[in-house]
Amino acid sequence: MKGIVLAGGAGSRLYPLTMAVSKQLLPVYDKPMIYYPIATLFLAGIREIAIISTPRDLPAYEILLGNGEDFGVQFHYVEQTSPRGLAEAFLLCNDFIHGSSVALALGDNILHGARLSSLLRRAVRMVENKGGAGIFGHAVRNPSDYGVMELDSHKKVLSIEEKPVKPRSPWAVIGLYFYDASVTQKARRVEPSARGELEITTINQMYLLEGALTAHFLGRGFAWLDSGTQESLADATNFIRVVEERQGTKVACLEEIAFRSGWIGAEKLLARAKKHKGTVYGAYLESILSQIPGTESL
Ligand code: G1P
Repeated sequence: MKGIVLAGGAGSRLYPLTMAVSKQLLPVYDKPMIYYPIATLFLAGIREIAIISTPRDLPAYEILLGNGEDFGVQFHYVEQTSPRGLAEAFLLCNDFIHGSSVALALGDNILHGARLSSLLRRAVRMVENKGGAGIFGHAVRNPSDYGVMELDSHKKVLSIEEKPVKPRSPWAVIGLYFYDASVTQKARRVEPSARGELEITTINQMYLLEGALTAHFLGRGFAWLDSGTQESLADATNFIRVVEERQGTKVACLEEIAFRSGWIGAEKLLARAKKHKGTVYGAYLESILSQIPGTESL
């Protein structure tokens, strides 16, 4: 399966923070926001990833991430000239997807929780083996701000609505989607919504109609944060700081995930540590090699 991180958009809700800088490059505590959705794709085992952003911001992402060899993966860069909605990602990445199954991660979504990797890998396997789509639900206080699932008593999805005024459940659809190769054809059939966007929810509704949509649920032990407003950005920074300071580990450390997944060896890890020399991040990278066995689970 391939992956896409959507890091486009004007980020106007965060002005003046984003007047000169792409939203997904802003810091979430100790690393750029985009590290978190990339880490999610890494944890799902996805190693070929397209980053979508504006022509202005794309060069900055290339400086930050390179071609992926530092992490044992491949990064591709795809321009979005004028954003038309999340579903446009599949039109822009048509050549990149090239008949493969694909995951889409929104650039401002942060996921954290135990055994996340195995949950994600299960969703990947389901789509790879059986086709269809996999989405994730998480209960929130303010479902009206999101896509919302209506569920029956067996947690089977009955409907999905985008930002409903009267949500039918607290289960929001998180910004991480797994699709079979038919997603590109489906994306071509999406018409702009009332707010003028090509909605990802429309694609999910198409899969639902075909009986090919599987919903996975992240329970209370998981944290799902977005970081697209001043408040949620500050909350995300505080959350990551508290977890990292308390545990002495880092959330979404791309080099660590790559190393523990066997995608890079000790030499590359140390080279990256050297690049970050004199920083807490660099010291952390160095410490990974000497960590006590048993503390390494992601
Ligand atoms: C988008 C989707 C929505 C989803 C959300 C997750 O909303 O349209 O269905 O629940 O991402 O973050 P946006 O935040 O782009 O308005």
